[in-house]
Amino acid sequence: MTDKDLGRFAEDTLFHRIARAVCHAGCLPRKELFETWEMARRVRRRFRGGRVIDLGGGHGLLAQIMLLLDDSSPSALVVDQTLPASGARLYEALVRAWPRLAGRLTFVAGSLETAELLGTDVVVSCHACGDLTDRVLQRAVAAQARVAVLPCCHDLESGDTGRLRGWVDGPLAADIVRATRLTQQGYRVWTQTIPADITAKNRLLLGAPVLESARTVSRVSAPRRARAQSPGRRRS
Ligand SMILES: C[S@@+](CC[C@H](N)C(=O)[O-])C[C@H]1O[C@@H](n2cnc3c(N)ncnc32)[C@H](O)[C@@H]1O
Repeated sequence: MTDKDLGRFAEDTLFHRIARAVCHAGCLPRKELFETWEMARRVRRRFRGGRVIDLGGGHGLLAQIMLLLDDSSPSALVVDQTLPASGARLYEALVRAWPRLAGRLTFVAGSLETAELLGTDVVVSCHACGDLTDRVLQRAVAAQARVAVLPCCHDLESGDTGRLRGWVDGPLAADIVRATRLTQQGYRVWTQTIPADITAKNRLLLGAPVLESARTVSRVSAPRRARAQSPGRRRS
């Protein structure tokens, strides 16, 4: 996407404003903007706050949109073994549009194994190829952090498909095994999809340690309880 695409994003919505900044940076394909946005907003509906850790984060757009969607996250760390040179251009374009992002992003060139994770983090990874997704999940579970992955490039030779391939296709079997394993590891999981016309690798897996998700659910359900007890509803 470049400034030639600006006309497609003329509205005063957050998405269009981000898209315009991405156009100015001139280094990302359109698909990456759309899939990242779709992932980030779904993750933010479940997981608020916390330091954002974007593993295999490439340009780090996901981490930056996560911060824009929830300013209660203090900072974000983007880890990638090969950080793209143009990542700095994207960051500068976003900081120009949102100066409050300045100084809140750290980019580390290195293996995702080296990142130090905390239980309060939100670990995200968009299209971590093959078993990289499994390593992201392992790292998050070891830290008891909330996690969201959008898997891709399933390696059916080495990946665990749980002997489910007689019923469902191999990549789906692998993702079911991932979700099931997370549950067995004491996580509450949410399974969602982002629109398939944006990416065919569109299964989003979110997980939070059960105690953490109990706190989240109670925060979400409080207004519902209040509504249920409102005088109007009691009268009806
Ligand atoms: C398909 S790209 C996805 C990039 C980005 N998340 C996105 O959605 O555009 C996978 C990324 O994982 C990175 N990567 C591969 N192995 C890694 C490792 N062991 N540790 C950290 N990053 C790794 C690659 O350099 C690449 O940028």
